[in-house]
Amino acid sequence: MASLHSRRQFLQTFGFSAAALLAGRFDLRAASVDPKAQHLFLFGDWGAVLPDPQLQVARTMASYMEGQGIRPAALLSLGDNFYGQMDGGVDCPRWKTQFEDTYPKSQFSGPCYALLGNHDYSVEPAGKAEAQLAYAAAHPGTRWTMPAKWYRFEFPQERPLVTFLMLDSNYQKATAEKLSLTEEERSAQAQWLKAELAKPRTTKYLIICGHHPLYSNAGDSVKLIGEWDALFREQAAHLYFCGHIHDLEHLEFDGHPTSFVVSGGGGTTLRPNEKTESSAQNRFNGRIHGFTHLEITDQRLVVRHIGAEGGQLHAFTKSPQGAVEII
Ligand SMILES: [Fe+2]
Repeated sequence: MASLHSRRQFLQTFGFSAAALLAGRFDLRAASVDPKAQHLFLFGDWGAVLPDPQLQVARTMASYMEGQGIRPAALLSLGDNFYGQMDGGVDCPRWKTQFEDTYPKSQFSGPCYALLGNHDYSVEPAGKAEAQLAYAAAHPGTRWTMPAKWYRFEFPQERPLVTFLMLDSNYQKATAEKLSLTEEERSAQAQWLKAELAKPRTTKYLIICGHHPLYSNAGDSVKLIGEWDALFREQAAHLYFCGHIHDLEHLEFDGHPTSFVVSGGGGTTLRPNEKTESSAQNRFNGRIHGFTHLEITDQRLVVRHIGAEGGQLHAFTKSPQGAVEII
């Protein structure tokens, strides 16, 4: 584990900030993308009340895809899908303006696997979580895919390479306005997760997703670490993707099989510049809007953070055996 001193030195030396990135102090060229690989775009914290910068990130996703000559077979939403009011539930006009039209089917024809964030649990005016769980059944043909609060899918659908476990990390205290998982749901999810992880793995990679981070540069979640970290280690999960922190991050622990990636730059206000520390080692922290591109082949995973301006901000590879290399 890096000392706080060495971490600060590292951050000061490389000046991880949106301003520095935009000032051209980093190589913004995308490392070569393999068009024959499987591709998936991830993004969190996008459903802001104001249209920008969500629209800008979405437009960049489309132009990046065209520029690289790839077609992501799926999107993955890391929660806080809709901030603010959602009048009408499954028939709220925001479904069309902020999902169906913002990430159009003509460009992103595959499923959009989604999970719930804390803002998705608000009562505004009815239960927003229930609307998101019910939307697909009410709108046949949509790409929105949220069959349950926690679920499994394999990717790609033919000859899958990755087992994805989508979790509900909403363990916060419930109030009249802000709901959460119930104790019964937490217990049921924990049993389900253990049972899923106990099954023989049939894919090369295991990736787990939730809305809240276990580790981040805005601080660590003792509760989630206690719930899940030992399981991630035991099962050698390759990646944990989350949002909630409004930036793009990559953290590693020496000896930990799991890489921790935050992709919370999908459209709402960026994380303020407060000073906090994670117990994990920081590899990248860009306080910038953007999304994350996951490339998958038999040989490796490639994770790329792409900024809202279209440049590659940070990238690393991970082998099936778990070796990480920054590229
Ligand atoms: Fe959140």
